[in-house]
Amino acid sequence: MPELPPGPRAPRLFQMFQWIFRPVPFLRTCDETYGDAFTLHLIGAPPVVFFSNPAAIKQIFSGNPEHLRAGQANRVSLEHVLGPNSILLLDGARHKRERKLLMPPFHGERMRLYGELMTGITDRSIDSWPVETSFSVHSRMQQITLEIILRAVFGVDDGPSLHDLRARLIRWLNSIAGPLETWIGLTLRRYIPLRDPLLRRIDRLLYDQIARCRESQRRKRTDILAMLVAARDEDGRPMSDEEIRDEIITMLVAGHETTATSLAWVIYRLLRNPQVLARVRAEVEPVTGEGPQASGTIAEQVAGLSYLDSVIKETARLNPVLPIAARHLGKDMRIGNHELPAGIIVVPCIYLTHRRPELWPEPEAFNPGRFVGRRIDPYTFFPFGGGVRYCLGAAFASYEMKIVLARVLSRVALRLDPRHTVRVVRRGITFAPSGGVRVIREAE
Ligand code: HEM
Repeated sequence: MPELPPGPRAPRLFQMFQWIFRPVPFLRTCDETYGDAFTLHLIGAPPVVFFSNPAAIKQIFSGNPEHLRAGQANRVSLEHVLGPNSILLLDGARHKRERKLLMPPFHGERMRLYGELMTGITDRSIDSWPVETSFSVHSRMQQITLEIILRAVFGVDDGPSLHDLRARLIRWLNSIAGPLETWIGLTLRRYIPLRDPLLRRIDRLLYDQIARCRESQRRKRTDILAMLVAARDEDGRPMSDEEIRDEIITMLVAGHETTATSLAWVIYRLLRNPQVLARVRAEVEPVTGEGPQASGTIAEQVAGLSYLDSVIKETARLNPVLPIAARHLGKDMRIGNHELPAGIIVVPCIYLTHRRPELWPEPEAFNPGRFVGRRIDPYTFFPFGGGVRYCLGAAFASYEMKIVLARVLSRVALRLDPRHTVRVVRRGITFAPSGGVRVIREAE
């Protein structure tokens, strides 16, 4: 007889409150009390079983995706934001088709072509940072990553509606990021289909971009929107405007906030660890931000930044931006030592697995050396999820982070603003640094 692993007995409302407003202490208490598998009961969702044991996580990530459905699981938290046609909410054949379609711009040659765009955008941002005045690194990183993904999605043509879109997207993303709005999103919005007026306006701007792109098809465009407009399925049918809208908003949301928050965490960790910072600085010095030349293309320069790569990974271990990946169980299944019933949600817990002392000795210590020259098991370290749902933008995000960090660290000296301490807070579904990591740029 299937039986769920134990978990807190508090009422759903209280468990939901803890998960939204005090997620880190809540996860830690559950881990200490129940071990590497426990069940939460949240409002508006089936029971959610958290796992932090690599063997169980391997079963979840590499099991049959027909029975371990990420799209169905993600619907709980993301449908009201992304729309029903988002790749994050699809399963089965449609998911496979959409993934194949969206993959090319985020990998290989197509992705590497964005190198100069990324350096240019970063350099322009740095030029505007104040000197000897406290500012939030997170919000600067958000501006940079939003600009990069906007250019990748819409191309370089900067019409008035793109300007409007940029401003409204920032306002909308900030408005849905707070824990209270997350709470409303997870509990009320799915029952009462309130349409956010700001999102309605953003939708109009997106549909306007789609219409303009359909008209300009004859002109050569290589951006993601043009690619979606040109795409045809096996029967030769194009995507509808609604399908394209949902994929575009997915790229903008998934591609910008996660990367910006990861960058803010890396800068925070570096500023707290001067020896690591000095070593990274020495490594990034040759990344010039220019095209082909004696020291190679940007892509080649970035490929050589192996210590920075370890720093980014160690930061993602301690401060994973997304604390969980989720799958809906389509049939009864044994995972680890537990017989689980169909209809529940199983969750590989990124946050807790990355802190298990038997996998990561002295788990709270920031030590990039643990990644140097080592191949890491994908069920022990998985900041980008796993299996057939492995983050579509992982290569793009890693490339982008290295370029942005190389430019920032070689151009400016920063120090943490001592008046602010940083802890983990929830921003929508992400775990972000409180206060956005306030820093001061030192005078040259
Ligand atoms: C550091 C930055 C990022 C982190 C930490 C991150 C993390 C994740 C995670 C944990 C998942 C869920 C995987 C699973 O369920 O197993 C995911 C999925 C996804 N991510 Fe990312 N992501 C990042 C950047 C990006 C970027 C730049 C894009 C670009 C568009 C992107 C697009 C996506 C998409 C489309 C999916 C859904 C894939 C699918 O369902 O097949 N992400 N990401």
